[in-house]
Amino acid sequence: MKIISVFNQKGGVGKTTTVVNLSAALGRKKKKVLVIDLDPQGNTTSGLGVEKDNVENTIYDVLVNDVNVVDSIVDTSSNNVKLIPSNNDLSGFEIEAVSREQRESLLSSAIVDLEGYDFVLIDCPPSLGLLSINALVASNSVIIPIQSEYYALEGVSQLVQTIDLVKRSLNKDLEVEGVVISMFDGRNNLSLEVVEEVKKYFKDKVYKSIIPRNIRLAEAPSYGMSVVDYDEKSKGAIAYLNLAKELIKQNR
Ligand SMILES: Nc1ncnc2c1ncn2[C@@H]1O[C@H](COP(=O)(O)OP(=O)(O)OP(=O)(O)O)[C@@H](O)[C@H]1O
Ligand SMILES: [Mg+2]
Repeated sequence: MKIISVFNQKGGVGKTTTVVNLSAALGRKKKKVLVIDLDPQGNTTSGLGVEKDNVENTIYDVLVNDVNVVDSIVDTSSNNVKLIPSNNDLSGFEIEAVSREQRESLLSSAIVDLEGYDFVLIDCPPSLGLLSINALVASNSVIIPIQSEYYALEGVSQLVQTIDLVKRSLNKDLEVEGVVISMFDGRNNLSLEVVEEVKKYFKDKVYKSIIPRNIRLAEAPSYGMSVVDYDEKSKGAIAYLNLAKELIKQNR
């Protein structure tokens, strides 16, 4: 079982889109996937067709109210993909956890007995706070989505520092699994330059499958579906299926 955080403290870079569609693509390739929505925005939850304010338990109940993790797992609109949902309840976590012991390891402890999945993908919120730290402590590795835009590498050194900090103090085996370039626009010279910059920085960690800017990817969440289920022939779906292939190969 490989546990992967999808993490970048910058907002709107494609974390949730990557979690929803990469998990659906892995599921399409017969992998058993568990998605953990660790963002109070709950966009992964609704993106996978689950009504976030109409679930019995959320990740908040697991982390704070000691609900057994197995009792929080629900089905999604995607084959082979299960979900631990999230909603705005989770926004109280950062404050409530302050008084808890081992507050950085609450997620890690909660999922320690989980089994039966090939991949666990964790969607992080856009911050370097305690929720993201919990995700990193619970993970084997990190996928970093980077938006192909002018300020792409802004904040990246802070991101890498955070990963290193967790690695040194709380989770020595944490690795960077890979870097995925998102919202690529091939007609734009700047996009091509950004790809070169990112490759200079992350070297062979950058996935060959680059995610294009694709309208289907933006539309699919409003139907509560991954793009793989919404329009499997779209450029977005093909890109995420290729990314899943790379990830599977990397972990064979
Ligand atoms: N490749 C793409 N093509 C077109 N639209 C995209 C693509 N990737 C993401 N988007 C859109 O861009 C917006 C931001 O994407 P997303 O929610 O995945 O980012 P995020 O990093 O999870 O954001 P946050 O930091 O708020 O959690 C969304 O409206 C999403 O539908
Ligand atoms: Mg998100």
